[in-house]
Amino acid sequence: MYHLLRPLTYPTKTLSQRLSLYFLNKNIRQLHGSLIMESEKIRIADRHKGSDKNVWVEFGRLAVEHKAVNLGQGFPDHFPPQYVRDALSDVSNSDSELLYQYTRSYGHPRLVNVLSVLYSRLIQRDIHPMDEILITVGAYGALYCAVQGLINPGDEVIIIEPYFDCYEPMVRAAGGIPVFIPLEPTKSGAVVSSADWKLDPEELTRKFSDKTKAIFLNTPNNPLGKVYRYEELELIANLCKKHDVVVFADEVYEWLIYNPNEHIRIATLPDMWQRTITIGSAGKSFSVTGWKTGWAIGPSRLIYALQKLHQNCIYTCPTPIQEAVAIAFEKEMPQLEKPECYFNQLPLELIEKRDRMVRFLREAGMIPTIPEGGYFMLADYSKLKVDIDYKPDEPRDLQFVRWLTKNKKLAVIPPSAFYSQQHKHLAEDMIRLCFIKARRALATKFYKKKKRAIRLVDDVN
Ligand SMILES: Cc1ncc(COP(=O)(O)O)c(C=O)c1O
Repeated sequence: MYHLLRPLTYPTKTLSQRLSLYFLNKNIRQLHGSLIMESEKIRIADRHKGSDKNVWVEFGRLAVEHKAVNLGQGFPDHFPPQYVRDALSDVSNSDSELLYQYTRSYGHPRLVNVLSVLYSRLIQRDIHPMDEILITVGAYGALYCAVQGLINPGDEVIIIEPYFDCYEPMVRAAGGIPVFIPLEPTKSGAVVSSADWKLDPEELTRKFSDKTKAIFLNTPNNPLGKVYRYEELELIANLCKKHDVVVFADEVYEWLIYNPNEHIRIATLPDMWQRTITIGSAGKSFSVTGWKTGWAIGPSRLIYALQKLHQNCIYTCPTPIQEAVAIAFEKEMPQLEKPECYFNQLPLELIEKRDRMVRFLREAGMIPTIPEGGYFMLADYSKLKVDIDYKPDEPRDLQFVRWLTKNKKLAVIPPSAFYSQQHKHLAEDMIRLCFIKARRALATKFYKKKKRAIRLVDDVN
């Protein structure tokens, strides 16, 4: 029977032929899969059930299918700085035979050394390169090692909403119990900033208990762009100290902060170093998300747990990429305070794109929440009167985004994906857009299509 269900292959030329073939083969694979799934054993492990749906898969595919301008996925479409590209090309032709082989499991020595110098300065303490840093496959890898390395079944983990969507399945896979608390928009009207989204201190206090093991803190936040103020961090820090809780500080957008905001690392607050794992990403720092290199930094007592987990699943990350990232940091280290530093240039370029997108969204009749950091923006579309027959069994934002992609050729992400089941309704009136797209690409594609997108305005009133 199975041989009849083999995927089809024949020479195809056009994109639409290739797409049709892709979806035909997908159906065959699904049919094949459903036959196999009749077996009790050949199926996903119980601890991953319920986590198998992924917003990026559905909406990425929809964007391709409808040839939409894709402002959904979060990656730049400009080149990284030339010296970053040169670093990898030099490494790929290196005379050192060692650079072609496995490197140290917990992190390539040249990379952990430069990161220890950099973060010793940023976190204002001596960071040991071998015991207090772990290099991982992207920040995702660091998050995974932190959760799997430290969470026991039954431990509670606080997740602030909206959150980077993998936090929840990671906690559940470790047997942990996610405890959600949404940031609350405290202001409405035409001008809303991510700073207007706040934690209710009393509600937060109630979420901590003897069972709380950890809290995720993502600053600047994806998808909102919120940059936490000192007082907000202090509140979280005091609760963590009171209840002996670890902080997973996801700071992958640490360099993407818009004036006059300031990135404050929670690890620098009094007595917080010993309970904080700071997570960073080369992909976000140097606009090379495809290099998939990240790190976790913290006290050896915590990093030990992550290192052990890492050594038994990934063991070691690619040597040439780690070497190239190290070279890139070595170049930036002496000029961190100077305007020519990439980490100072990129936010200046991005703030223009941010403001341009704010203008566009307003013209189109939406209310953007202006982000203080990161490269995403939420926008409220509820004032648009669009002809959609919303079904009650699915959050409205999913249905609106499908309509927008199909009818206006603009692909974005429905932000209810960043909320727990019980709070998805809080995001139903919003969409998430990514504004780190090349100026030229935006000019030629998105903003030229602006007229079509702007027709949304016609639907108002
Ligand atoms: C908040 C947040 N954390 C972690 C990651 C993952 O980073 P990496 O690509 O380095 O795995 C992302 C990527 O979009 C992110 O937005």
